[in-house]
Amino acid sequence: MEMLIAPSLLAADFLRLGEEIRRAEASGADLLHCDVMDGVYVPNISFGFSVLEPIAKIARLPLDVHMMTVCPDRYVDKLAKIGAASVTVHSDAMDPERTVETLKAIRSSGMKAAVALSPKRPAAELLPFIELIDMALVMTVEPGFGGQSFMADMMPKVGEVRGLLDRYNPSCRIQVDGGIASGTIGAAASAGADVFVVGTASFRSEDMSGAVSSLRRAAEDAVRP
Ligand code: DX5
Ligand code: ZN
Repeated sequence: MEMLIAPSLLAADFLRLGEEIRRAEASGADLLHCDVMDGVYVPNISFGFSVLEPIAKIARLPLDVHMMTVCPDRYVDKLAKIGAASVTVHSDAMDPERTVETLKAIRSSGMKAAVALSPKRPAAELLPFIELIDMALVMTVEPGFGGQSFMADMMPKVGEVRGLLDRYNPSCRIQVDGGIASGTIGAAASAGADVFVVGTASFRSEDMSGAVSSLRRAAEDAVRP
């Protein structure tokens, strides 16, 4: 599967968001990852619809919205309305029945659905949702902040998730998020990830195009037979 690079806006210069979005587009990135944090599911608050809406108006890249919130189901209609391409909810944010309903609602609104596993959540927690998702997100840091170190000990879980998906939902992608950089992306790719969220290592690089293409190359090289 083609390797996708998703710069995380959390690492952008918020005083110049419009230009930052253009910089991400010019870099050859595939998706624009938007981290919504409510200060309850995670100990940090990022941005909500007053920021997402204007982003959606100008962005040409598909918006990949990562909901680090306790009630992501409240916002599905609004996310569909602004034109989000994909919505990720955390496996432990709501009870499983409510998560199932939310994933169905995301898909029936025409968006792609994804479930995220925080570092302490096991791969098997995806099972009730496995046929309802287009992407599984294996967090490689504790959610809440950019700029943290990559947790290499999550790689066996990426492999386990790949095993479950091969069995129940083979076309489903695996995203990794947190600490992805040139020195870590290869390990994630060889473990089975194919969508890479990159905050610090993309937006904080002076040459974002160079960063995105070398990250993509490192991911591809890692899986080349
Ligand atoms: C963390 C967010 C990430 C964050 C990644 O909770 O989900 O998307 O922006 O940033 P880096 O790449 O700097 O670890
Ligand atoms: Zn994220």
